[in-house]
Amino acid sequence: MEFFDSHSHFNDEKFEEDREEVIKSIYEQGITKTVCVGYNVSQSLHAIEISENTAFIYATCGISPNDIEDFSNQNLSKIEELATKDKVVAIGEIGLDYYWNKDNKEKQKELFIKQIEIANKLDKPIVIHTREAVMDTLKILKEHNVNKKGIFHCCPLNVELIKEGLKLGFYISFSGNITFKNAKSEEAVKMVPNDRILIETDSPYLSPEPFRGKRNTPSNVKLVAKKIADIKEISLEEVANMTYKNALNIYNIK
Ligand code: NI
Repeated sequence: MEFFDSHSHFNDEKFEEDREEVIKSIYEQGITKTVCVGYNVSQSLHAIEISENTAFIYATCGISPNDIEDFSNQNLSKIEELATKDKVVAIGEIGLDYYWNKDNKEKQKELFIKQIEIANKLDKPIVIHTREAVMDTLKILKEHNVNKKGIFHCCPLNVELIKEGLKLGFYISFSGNITFKNAKSEEAVKMVPNDRILIETDSPYLSPEPFRGKRNTPSNVKLVAKKIADIKEISLEEVANMTYKNALNIYNIK
């Protein structure tokens, strides 16, 4: 069985000590594709470097709302230039985060929209980070069509967001958050059709149960897949296969 972890961060410093070993071990455990996601200029460069050294890892580049200090015309040009590299499969992660930053909402929106424009110019999908900003995120996506659509990464278990996100043509990616106790995972997972669902770890963060609080690695994507299999009452293999195919589709990997 092979798994595609649609969103991980091998560029993170938590992998500084043993990055090569972890990369090798996840492949042996059947995680045969993942996308290393950038979130500012230097970490986008780092993600691309990792992808260029590892055949089964792809990269994204972008400036996240939590890295707004990187917002400048010069840096946006840099992102646009990096996004033309062979292993870059999307612009991201980009979006809105009112949990960590409430004081610069207008600036976050502007940065998000400018990067949607880059994605459209280069015909790339986007990877969306949205936290406590459901309405504004949907409003921007309704007003600014994204040609190649994209992914709600670590999708909040919010019925309105999932319903509208699907209607707009986006894919929904679930992470370890669906395994947490008291999470409203069942309704959320059942809402997403099998051809629009993805699995991810967002490692090194957000370890699924029973590893909560520990460093996460892409091998834990199996626990996310298992939870989806249980909720949808299908086999683990079916979840592995359909999420693999969906990730290849949205990231346009041949
Ligand atoms: Ni992430």
